[in-house]
Amino acid sequence: MTVAAVVVAAGSGERLGAGVPKAMVALQGRPLVDWAVQAFDQHRDVDSVVVVAPADAVVAITEGAAGRAHVVVGGVTRQQSVENGLDALARDVDLVLVHDAARPLVTAEVISAVVRALRAGAEAVIPVLPVTDTVKRVNASGVVLATVDRTELRTVQTPQGFRRDVLEAAHATARDRGVVDIGDDAALVEGIGRVVVTVPGSPECLKITTAYDLDLVQRMVSTQRMVGE
Ligand code: C5P
Repeated sequence: MTVAAVVVAAGSGERLGAGVPKAMVALQGRPLVDWAVQAFDQHRDVDSVVVVAPADAVVAITEGAAGRAHVVVGGVTRQQSVENGLDALARDVDLVLVHDAARPLVTAEVISAVVRALRAGAEAVIPVLPVTDTVKRVNASGVVLATVDRTELRTVQTPQGFRRDVLEAAHATARDRGVVDIGDDAALVEGIGRVVVTVPGSPECLKITTAYDLDLVQRMVSTQRMVGE
């Protein structure tokens, strides 16, 4: 079965406040998006990579990808960006991994686990982590209403893996229903009544949203380098 990765990188990154699209922010001298492209391009389970880019960064990302990825323009919402990526897939692709460029340190183990579950027959697979903090439900004034049982709760990462036909059907149904802004592909698949299974995620696969997250990832990369030296 042929596997493609769709790396969505078309967000503005307003919450990061870097003044450039988040995908173009430098991490150890390389644009953030390049880290994910490299992880998927070098992974033996992945046959091709599509990057969904902000319109004003298509040229730069295409040059940076140097033939390792096909680059297309993103949409206004993440959901629309994923659709643009799906539209650009080669005809023979059977399995799709949708990944946020904002998670540059995605590990080979997580990619392997997602692909393994798909190859074993799952229609949709998401990497998850257990919730370790205590979770409270609060009202609009911040007053605690209840303590939530966290044993059934998980936080969700990417890459999320799908049978291509299932993901395309989920996106088509959402579009028909006028839904254009769901940021989680698995939620669209749940919405058409299909089964989504989980595999273990990784703390390294954290998502960069704020300047604090970027700083944390910079430190993680420098520490990894020092350990590797
Ligand atoms: O905004 P947020 O960080 O949640 O976005 C998650 C991922 O989706 C990011 O990698 C971002 O570049 C991508 N995205 C996109 N197109 C949009 C909005 C977000 O490709 N319109």
